[in-house]
Amino acid sequence: MAAPKILAFAGSSRGASLNKLLLAVAADGARAAGADVTQIDLRDYPMPIYDGDDEMQSGVPDNALVLRGLIAEHDALLVATPEYNGSVTALLKNALDWCSRPINGEDGLLPYRGKMVALLAASMSPFGGIRAVTHTRGIFNKMGAIVLPDEVLLPQAQHAFDAGGNLLNETARQLARQLGAALAAKAGRGGS
Ligand SMILES: Cc1cc2nc3c(=O)[nH]c(=O)nc-3n(C[C@H](O)[C@H](O)[C@H](O)COP(=O)(O)O)c2cc1C
Repeated sequence: MAAPKILAFAGSSRGASLNKLLLAVAADGARAAGADVTQIDLRDYPMPIYDGDDEMQSGVPDNALVLRGLIAEHDALLVATPEYNGSVTALLKNALDWCSRPINGEDGLLPYRGKMVALLAASMSPFGGIRAVTHTRGIFNKMGAIVLPDEVLLPQAQHAFDAGGNLLNETARQLARQLGAALAAKAGRGGS
């Protein structure tokens, strides 16, 4: 059986993003479980804030088309989201909004229906980004995806990594790797 393909991205564009570091740990866990994981950076797909008038005049931006294509061709999504003011970042939400628009008569939500998604958050607060993850779960559910019940929250993430970007807490490392492995297993079974 072909290795399940997982697309991994974080809702932060920061070079030193703590969410990108946490995402990489989960991605390694998915690879160890046999998945083919591609980790992308949303910074490489800049797009304007969604505007219905712009869409009418110019259509969906090229970067959104490319990103939507990547989402469509992968079996599952691994997403780490920062929490901004108690919710998901504008970067992540805007990308998902653009990438959910109908294209040439194709249902905009087609790439998301039945797609397996696993969520993580790294935040500087003691609460670990629980609100952002809960909102992101709701967004993907609304789009028709199936979000794994387990999630990984990394509180006080500014102290969680060493200078080399390694996650210091072994339990947190194992939980992130296990989430990646669980997603690989689910995606490999076509979500069953
Ligand atoms: C505009 C803004 C709002 C924030 N609001 C929250 C918040 O509500 N809860 C929280 O835990 N952290 C909040 N933070 C801090 C983030 O947890 C922190 O910046 C984190 O490092 C962002 O993720 P990143 O490192 O992946 O970029 C906020 C940061 C910014 C810039």
